[in-house]
Amino acid sequence: MEQRIWRVLPFLLLIVPCVAILLIYQHLPSHSNLSTKALRGDVSWHARAGLHTEDPAGHRGSARGSRPFWTACLRNMSMANMAGFSDLPERLQNFLYYQHCKHFPLLLDLPGKCGGPDRSSGVFLLLVIKSQPVNYERREALRQTWAKERQHHGAWIRTLFISGTTGAGLEKLRMNKLMEVEHRKHGDILQWDFDDTFLNLTLKQVLFMEWLDNSCPHVRFLLNGDDDVFAHTDNMVEYLQSLRGNDGSGNLYTGQLIEGRGPVRDPSSKYFVPLQVQQKESYPTHCCGGGFLLSGHTAQVLYNMSKTIALHPIDDLYMGMCLAQAGLKPSRHTGMRAAGHPLIPSAKVDILDPCYYKDLLMVHDFTPLQNYVMWEQVHDPGLKCWKDPRLSSGILQ
Ligand SMILES: *[C@@H]1O[C@H](CO)[C@@H](O)[C@H](O)[C@H]1NC(C)=O
Ligand SMILES: *[C@@H]1O[C@H](CO)[C@@H](O)[C@H](O)[C@H]1NC(C)=O
Ligand SMILES: *[C@@H]1O[C@H](CO)[C@@H](O)[C@H](O)[C@H]1NC(C)=O
Repeated sequence: MEQRIWRVLPFLLLIVPCVAILLIYQHLPSHSNLSTKALRGDVSWHARAGLHTEDPAGHRGSARGSRPFWTACLRNMSMANMAGFSDLPERLQNFLYYQHCKHFPLLLDLPGKCGGPDRSSGVFLLLVIKSQPVNYERREALRQTWAKERQHHGAWIRTLFISGTTGAGLEKLRMNKLMEVEHRKHGDILQWDFDDTFLNLTLKQVLFMEWLDNSCPHVRFLLNGDDDVFAHTDNMVEYLQSLRGNDGSGNLYTGQLIEGRGPVRDPSSKYFVPLQVQQKESYPTHCCGGGFLLSGHTAQVLYNMSKTIALHPIDDLYMGMCLAQAGLKPSRHTGMRAAGHPLIPSAKVDILDPCYYKDLLMVHDFTPLQNYVMWEQVHDPGLKCWKDPRLSSGILQ
């Protein structure tokens, strides 16, 4: 017996400190990217808090820097004491554990995206596109089509992809590297250090609104949407310019409305919302999250509301809750087809006929390939379309 202990002792002496170091390392924030990225996370946080001096327009006073250093948000273990908690799917358990966490470090920041906060009124339309790291091809297609940064009718269009992280270990490192390369090359990526999952989309939205408040508070209008849509951004600019208050200082929140719905109680659904998350059986009217347009002013109002409303796992609904809290209602725009293609597929019509799209503002569910082709086609001066009153009225179904 004693002999055996002597045999394993040197081994134990070696392994115990190693395990200890590993554990500490695992619990450091940004551990995935050790030295440089962990540092960068801190630098970004300083940037957000207005403490750095690199961006001349970015100094909004260090009074804003109430949290100069990042402390990891710990999970709320008492959630597990709720009745029925252990029966919930793991993703919802995770949602509840981290529901109170509204701050995560920025890994990739673009403080000068809008020319600095004080000059951000120079951006007419900011395209804010939710995109997971893995969706590289979608981002590439959008940069070359409707999300290309440019001026249209004298109005500046700027683009931001907003992202969290995916995977763990090496996979997470590789994906973060991809985002860093794109960020450097195109200057259009914001990335925070949280798991980019479906149930964390609300978190992504709230983090973005916080960034907007810091770095681009006077932007006129925003398109908030997904990376698998076709957005006719020329038409959007023209529509927004045609509004009476076209400087973004009034309220605007428009898209395809979701009305008279309540929580999905089927545990097998992607949209399952259990009683532990929401007891009320109804949802306020909100815009479908595939894409909606809002004014810079309304974005600020929503951000203010979000500070006091607990995160909800369905992101577009959460925005509706914030709107309702502010006493505002979203409006319907028939040119915003956030829930899918405008036509019921049939053998007689091609659902990708550009004539159906040239007068619309947005349609959900487009592949990168379809976006390439459609963007070319709707800009073809030789495009011939029949006169269909349903087209000009925007009512297709
Ligand atoms: C943690 O969860 C409990 C039980 O749901 C809740 O009462 C409490 O407010 C939560 N704490 C935080 C910090 O959110
Ligand atoms: C949201 O992100 C946090 C931070 O990465 C993570 O701990 C949590 O599990 C995520 N929540 C869900 C529902 O994926
Ligand atoms: C948001 O809240 C801040 C601080 O409470 C306030 O100064 C600002 O006017 C509010 N903005 C809007 C648009 O309501």
